[in-house]
Amino acid sequence: MMHTKEWTLMDITNKDAQLQEIAAVLRSGEVVAFPTETVYGLGADATNAEAVAKIFQSKGRPQDNPLIAHVATRKDVHRLSKSYPHYVDNLMDAFSPGPITYILPSNGTCAENVTAGLETIGVRIPSHPVAQAILRACDFPIAAPSANISGKPSPTTAAHVKDDLFGKIAGIVDAGQTGVGMESTIVDCTKDVPVILRPGGITKEDIQACIGDVLDHTPSDDFLEKPAAPGMKYTHYAPEIPLVLVHGDASHMQHVIDTYKREGKLVGVLARSSMEEKLSADVFVSLGSSLTEVAVHLYDRLRSFSKGTMDVIVCETFEKKDVGVAIMNRLEKAATKVIK
Ligand code: TXA
Ligand code: MG
Repeated sequence: MMHTKEWTLMDITNKDAQLQEIAAVLRSGEVVAFPTETVYGLGADATNAEAVAKIFQSKGRPQDNPLIAHVATRKDVHRLSKSYPHYVDNLMDAFSPGPITYILPSNGTCAENVTAGLETIGVRIPSHPVAQAILRACDFPIAAPSANISGKPSPTTAAHVKDDLFGKIAGIVDAGQTGVGMESTIVDCTKDVPVILRPGGITKEDIQACIGDVLDHTPSDDFLEKPAAPGMKYTHYAPEIPLVLVHGDASHMQHVIDTYKREGKLVGVLARSSMEEKLSADVFVSLGSSLTEVAVHLYDRLRSFSKGTMDVIVCETFEKKDVGVAIMNRLEKAATKVIK
């Protein structure tokens, strides 16, 4: 077991000493988990291949899955990329710093294992004040995937990070719960028209309102061999108990619950709070009321169903509109079964 240092930085006022210490640990080639406005990231110096290798090792990430480089400013974006289409500047004006990642032509500044050998690099300017302060204290970009064991739901609290990675990394920076709750929107900006590779907090509607044309990535037959975002071919967000997604209203959900009950199963329900009085199961776990709240709580609630507590989770579905697109994208990947 490695010693994992913990810092609590609920804000950054008068926290220069801690920020310098965190930057020094990163500069020495170690891995530190830190908050962003989406989920917690598992950071290392993106220009140091050995440091980046520790990210892959500690979270058990497949080597062919590239990482996002996090930077503080737009000037730093230019340090990592070759020239890119004009619409990227418009997107950055509107959404950066914020929960959006741009896939740009790489200029090779980052270590090769950050991009998994691709010619492109994912770059994001996070808006979380603690992430910004850490980046500003470092003189290098920080490569960071979500700070979970590969395959598990992404972490939205430092406690989630601890559950997965305590004793395996040099440090964890705790700044409470993250804001958006879903990972950033990933936009491929290497073509004339941008393509959304992963839906997130910045929605398709937001991007359309900003620049007009944008495409959704449609997986092709060779998706598994050459996926646009390599990470998308792996199992994701899986809770420890089978998750059944049910399309339809409360009575349809109740029918599914009753079927499992007749099989003698313990049934947990994951749904918006308004469903609680309409459904009867062994346990009801609320996702909140608005779609925004569902996004914030989803990963924490998926993690709350730990092995042995229930036999099956029955989960509500959401309209694929606004952040509902991102929520359904994650739920469909987490689900073991979908019932229409
Ligand atoms: O909100 C987020 O994006 C969080 C926080 C920590 O910033 N990070 C995150 O990273 O979700 P990760 O590694 O869990 O997901 C990154 C995704 C993966 O599916 C990866 O394959 C894709 O981005 N990706 C990274 N670089 C890429 C590239 N050059 N081309 C295509 N896809 C890329
Ligand atoms: Mg991830």
